[in-house]
Amino acid sequence: MSNRFQELEQKRAEAQLGGGQSRIDAQHKKGKLTARERIELLLDPGTFTEMGMMVTHRCTDFGMEEQTVLGDGVVTGYGHIGGRLVYAFSQDFTVFGGSLSETFAEKICKIMDLAMKTGAPVIGLNDSGGARIQEGVVSLAGYADIFYRNTLASGVVPQISAILGPCAGGAVYSPAITDFIMMVEKSSYMFVTGPNVVKTVTHEDVTSEDLGGATTHATKSGVTHFTYANEVACIQGIRTLLSYIPQNCEETAPSLPYERKESELVPSLNTIVPENPNQPYDIREVVAGVVDSDSFFEVHQEYAENIVVGFARLAGKSIGIVANQPASLAGVLDIKASLKGARFVRFCDSFNIPLLVLEDVPGFLPGTDQEWNAIITNGAKLLYAFCEATVPRITVITRKAYGGAYDVMNSKHIGADMNFAWPTAEIAVMGAKGAAEIIFKKEISESSNPEAALQAKVDEYTEKFANPWMAAARGYIDEVIKPEETRDRLIKAFAMLENKVAHLPKKKHGNIPL
Ligand code: HXC
Repeated sequence: MSNRFQELEQKRAEAQLGGGQSRIDAQHKKGKLTARERIELLLDPGTFTEMGMMVTHRCTDFGMEEQTVLGDGVVTGYGHIGGRLVYAFSQDFTVFGGSLSETFAEKICKIMDLAMKTGAPVIGLNDSGGARIQEGVVSLAGYADIFYRNTLASGVVPQISAILGPCAGGAVYSPAITDFIMMVEKSSYMFVTGPNVVKTVTHEDVTSEDLGGATTHATKSGVTHFTYANEVACIQGIRTLLSYIPQNCEETAPSLPYERKESELVPSLNTIVPENPNQPYDIREVVAGVVDSDSFFEVHQEYAENIVVGFARLAGKSIGIVANQPASLAGVLDIKASLKGARFVRFCDSFNIPLLVLEDVPGFLPGTDQEWNAIITNGAKLLYAFCEATVPRITVITRKAYGGAYDVMNSKHIGADMNFAWPTAEIAVMGAKGAAEIIFKKEISESSNPEAALQAKVDEYTEKFANPWMAAARGYIDEVIKPEETRDRLIKAFAMLENKVAHLPKKKHGNIPL
């Protein structure tokens, strides 16, 4: 018996080494951690339980039967983050370049199935050369088994993907289906086809970094939600993100203890919106003034900067924030902003995270580029996402709420529960100048002083519509509040809405304008 014990110890020690010390050294030389070091950093100390350590591949082609490695290139199991159960897999680049075999896929599927049964998040640490080339279609089948589970798990348990090395070919589609992607600058990349194929097909010369590095996906494509300078920061980012979200779609996010202060007034909010309605300001200052200190955790920070989205805590409870950003493109809604907002709204709604919308939007961005690339369909995604959301939903209009964008940005009419406006709110079909030029065109052109006539009409329109009063009179705005009162009102309103129950009509699923 003691021989078997020894054998076990030997096998365990062998598995720890993955593809061997020289490959581990090579991994470190590239500034990368090993699969096991990443798992250690990710999980609370001492909580990891490994599954499938003794698994080996079944391939017998190309001399593969001579090359088996315990665990077969992926470390899988479960443990805790912040004391809560999570499942994790960590691809081991030292074993056949982290490439995915039949058994590698089975190991990932096994923990995904358990995550679904037990209602806990799945975290994937990706670092892989893609399909195990020696296994052919068997490897492709393994990928598809994972994609299928990613899709079934979507909206049931949170799924987070960290890209910590290469991620190419069809392999990118598993992370793409998950809820959040995180990348590390200069050591991770994602693309469907790499630079060599790009060169052959489109004759473009492009590096891996430019084609699919972290900066590219954070700023241009929006594929990644977060980027970090190094792996340690990235893995810490996963832990932070999880602190804002629940274990599964049946639960609510964990909250922090909170003691109500004697006064929740925040006078600094009174001076953020400039006198001149065309002057920008940073909506993040409003966010910072409203939510619990330093609790804002921004998502998609560098993509579509004209809309700001992220998680925060209000009176200790997790909320999702969607805010137009007047400091970027005047906060206009364009295709990218609509997609970014819609995806975030749907995540929050899937996982019972109440939504706060801060609105200062001059409308949808005009132009051929936007129209030809389907601002209609893409803008409709944001509209659809809000309409369908059944979580508590509150809007605060800080300044402009113009045109269709007024309707889209969580208006009363599409199901928001509480709508506040600051006295600086302007709720109208469009800005005063544009409106005056259209409806008083004849009068202005026939006037002996068209400039003065236009100004008079602009003033008249501003007086009548560039304010919150008409919307409040109709009940479209529940209360006009001073900016300093915002935090207090929001704490009370979200508490009032805590037990909100709302159901969508019975259906198989809606048909979001994809
Ligand atoms: C088997 C692989 C592998 C793969 C790498 N290796 N990729 N083994 N299948 N896909 C092995 C190498 O043979 C090598 O083994 C070790 O991993 C490290 O690889 P290197 O090339 O030495 O490393 P590096 O220079 O860092 O380059 C990494 C790489 C490169 C950029 C990932 O290896 C590469 O281009 N690999 C092929 C990528 C690819 O074309 N994959 C298929 C994509 S199609 P030794 O023994 O020397 O250590 C795809 C379809 C998925 O994935 C579809 C899903 C639907």
